[in-house]
Amino acid sequence: MKSSNPQALRVRSAAGDYFVLCRRGVLRQAAEQIARLGEFSSVHILSSRRVWRAVGKKVQRGISMGRKVHVHLFDDSETAKTLTTVENVARKLVRTGADRKSLLIAVGGGVTGDVIGFVAASYLRGVALVQVPTTVVAQVDSAVGGKTGVNLPEGKNLFGAFYPPRLVLVDPEVLNTLPPREFRGGLAEVIKYGVIADSKLFAFLEKNMPAILARDNGALEHVIRRSIEIKGDVVSRDERETSLREILNYGHTFAHALEAATHYRKFQHGEAVAWGMMCAALLGHETVKTPADDVVRIIALVRPIGPLPEWPTVPAERLFDLMRADKKTKFGKVRFVLSPRLGRAQSYDGVTEKAAISVLRFGPRLILKSLKPLRNSNG
Ligand SMILES: NC(=O)c1ccc[n+]([C@@H]2O[C@H](COP(=O)([O-])OP(=O)(O)OC[C@H]3O[C@@H](n4cnc5c(N)ncnc54)[C@H](O)[C@@H]3O)[C@@H](O)[C@H]2O)c1
Ligand SMILES: [Zn+2]
Repeated sequence: MKSSNPQALRVRSAAGDYFVLCRRGVLRQAAEQIARLGEFSSVHILSSRRVWRAVGKKVQRGISMGRKVHVHLFDDSETAKTLTTVENVARKLVRTGADRKSLLIAVGGGVTGDVIGFVAASYLRGVALVQVPTTVVAQVDSAVGGKTGVNLPEGKNLFGAFYPPRLVLVDPEVLNTLPPREFRGGLAEVIKYGVIADSKLFAFLEKNMPAILARDNGALEHVIRRSIEIKGDVVSRDERETSLREILNYGHTFAHALEAATHYRKFQHGEAVAWGMMCAALLGHETVKTPADDVVRIIALVRPIGPLPEWPTVPAERLFDLMRADKKTKFGKVRFVLSPRLGRAQSYDGVTEKAAISVLRFGPRLILKSLKPLRNSNG
């Protein structure tokens, strides 16, 4: 596929490179962009009732351009991110005549992208997939990089495949209808990119966070695009997460423990990542000499995306056990991504249990205390 579009970001994949087009209004030219991928025997949009109510008209207008398009709606809740849903969607595809030359278009958040990505990877052993992400998380994270899959009763994302899309269409306009908590939580992942890879992005966020929280078009589009560039660059260099891709898990070792300890009910994922990044910053200071100034800046940038749910009343040792059970653990060692200074990150397996537990025990109080003046100045 060729693209003369300077705004197209190319992502490398062993199964074939693809482009991410990120700009306001890109969905209006969706049919044109999809036509560049080749001929398809049929086109199937997969989305949820909620997403379709919010953005369906816009998407359908842009994609169909007069041709027949099948629209299948399914349950996109996290609890329905299961093999049963995969089976139901696949059966719908059979019943509506989808064949090897059909195209699937996933329209929705990360759940939709992960489930439909996995369907696309498996249906007739693989059919073409276009991702149309409609949440901040999906736009800056899940729609790029080819990780697809579903949950098992034993844990999250345990069953899936690497399956890159043929194209990703990112239109920040669709974020207008996103509920506030989803929107704000998603910004945690954006901050993450600043911390791990781009101190300029971090500084831009510091300056423009109020505008971004108010969903200012220009600022939002800038940070989404920059986040995608970073994610695209990382997965292009390490698609299968042999090493570099691990840095995308900054804050996530803590976040997964918080989510698991509260049975995925208390925290929206981004909120857990927000706590996780602040803890990772403290742990960085303890173990890899992250400057205190960077730690303070990380905490000061992350907190305003809240109010975050309170840190749960779970013993630090229990949280550490949950970290050990995380699927990212290798040979029984808990791995932490730490940032020795803003704009850089690396995965470490040498963090002592004592240091981690100390952050889990004292970190949350320290974080709240460090922000007292900031809270007062904000009223
Ligand atoms: N594959 C990856 O690399 C990767 C990366 C990060 C997260 N994930 C996965 O993504 C999922 C989380 O994704 P998410 O945060 O996008 O949440 P989500 O998919 O659960 O969507 C959140 C809610 O917002 C609704 N919604 C979506 N777009 C909307 C819109 N434009 N207007 C109004 N409502 C809208 C959805 O219906 C849903 O109720 C998790 O399952 C996680 O495991 C995958
Ligand atoms: Zn995440």
